[in-house]
Amino acid sequence: MGFGRWYNRALNRIWGFVEDRTSMRRWALRPQPEFSFKPSYWTGAFVINAFLYQVVSGALLLLYYQPSTSTNATYTACGQAVGTLSPTPAAWCSTYYIIHSVPMGSLLLSTHLYGSYAMIFLLFVHLYRGYYLGVYKAPREFSWMVGTLLLVLTLGMGFTGYLLPYTQLSYNATDVGIVLALRLPTFGPLLGPFILGDGTSQGLLSRMFDAHVLLIPLAIAALLYAHIALFESHGIAPPATSDPLQRRRFTDAESKEQVPFMPHIFFYLTKWGLLYVGILFGIAALWPWSLGSYVGNTAVAPPVTEPDWYFLWLFKLVDFAGVTPVLAVAISTVLLVYLLFLPFLDRSKRTHPRDRPLFIWLGTSLLGFFITMTVWGGETPGIQIPPMAVAQMLAPIFAVNAVAVGLFHWRYARSYRRRLAARTGRGAPAVPSASGAGPAPIATAEVSARE
Ligand code: HEM
Repeated sequence: MGFGRWYNRALNRIWGFVEDRTSMRRWALRPQPEFSFKPSYWTGAFVINAFLYQVVSGALLLLYYQPSTSTNATYTACGQAVGTLSPTPAAWCSTYYIIHSVPMGSLLLSTHLYGSYAMIFLLFVHLYRGYYLGVYKAPREFSWMVGTLLLVLTLGMGFTGYLLPYTQLSYNATDVGIVLALRLPTFGPLLGPFILGDGTSQGLLSRMFDAHVLLIPLAIAALLYAHIALFESHGIAPPATSDPLQRRRFTDAESKEQVPFMPHIFFYLTKWGLLYVGILFGIAALWPWSLGSYVGNTAVAPPVTEPDWYFLWLFKLVDFAGVTPVLAVAISTVLLVYLLFLPFLDRSKRTHPRDRPLFIWLGTSLLGFFITMTVWGGETPGIQIPPMAVAQMLAPIFAVNAVAVGLFHWRYARSYRRRLAARTGRGAPAVPSASGAGPAPIATAEVSARE
């Protein structure tokens, strides 16, 4: 008996035993079609995996971290360790303690920080995959909208966490971010008292801490529940196609023939999850994060104010001559509203990129815009940019993309539709197939053998 068959039989027997005693099948996610056994179909699950790692590592950091700006004598030791005799703020000192005195503390803190970068990066991969493959189209419009809110909250986690080590850099960057946040239309004035509290730096730190460890994670968990429930109700989105009549919702009857989530898909995802944690630890061990100078340290030169990489584009925007904070906030709001309502703007029923030139052009150009602005922001933080230099840098991104996407559409869309019509006869739409959309029945044994 081959290893695959033996493995499957053993897995089925063990799982059958567990299921029999727990009714697991009733609360596991629904079965999924065979074509979903590819990492690209589970980009969202990778984000959940990253989120879970953040929750676990964050809970461990909480054992030592103190969200206080107090500089009483207890915290003189940290100051002495870094060569100043003055006491340092407790938040900074407790971070210093985690790095230098807690066993594996530096690794824990570094993985938490790099894990946040990874989560945001994976989130953008998840978003852009959905954008290019048109997964937001009916019936998944609400999944997309809830996802957009999750994006905002995840960026909120990054923003509120940045202040917690209480370095001069994180303090200055948070200050700039707050100035921008308070200019948000409608929400800005409402957020003001909540963020600033009594106007002291302790008030600010307490609020950032509360939002970071409690309020935003709770909101993410609630929205994630909605996101997964919606996913559960439609089944996974089928591959992108030029067929406007593609069936995009799986029925319960089909589910019976598909791959059970437990244990097959769960194990498949766990494999990737473990790889993620391994890579994270490897990077953190090779390049541990170093703590900057504390807030109020007058013995060192003030650092150049810059945020984490995912907000650099916004910081650079404010550097453009003529772009006030209000305008920068207005531009980000327009981008967010575009993302939120995209399912209602892109009304065509075809999901394949070759059939959606306008939206592909816009999405690819915005991707180019964000990457350029991020690199630019990192290289020249705080340096004013005249309008001509802005145009020279950004206009080619939109122009070159227009030509590339236009050529792609012209070359492939019409010829593909002709071939599709010829294949199906009399122009009738293709019956969804394994290469198109349909769920192919599959024996559980075959699937596990792939793992
Ligand atoms: C914290 C952030 C997020 C998490 C943890 C998350 C998680 C997930 C998961 C687990 C799925 C099931 C399929 C898969 O694994 O890919 C999914 C599907 C989906 N997500 Fe997200 N997501 C997040 C943010 C977003 C964002 C920002 C968007 C877009 C604006 C989005 C749009 C969608 C859509 C449309 C689906 C259905 C796709 C399908 O059925 O294949 N999600 N998400």
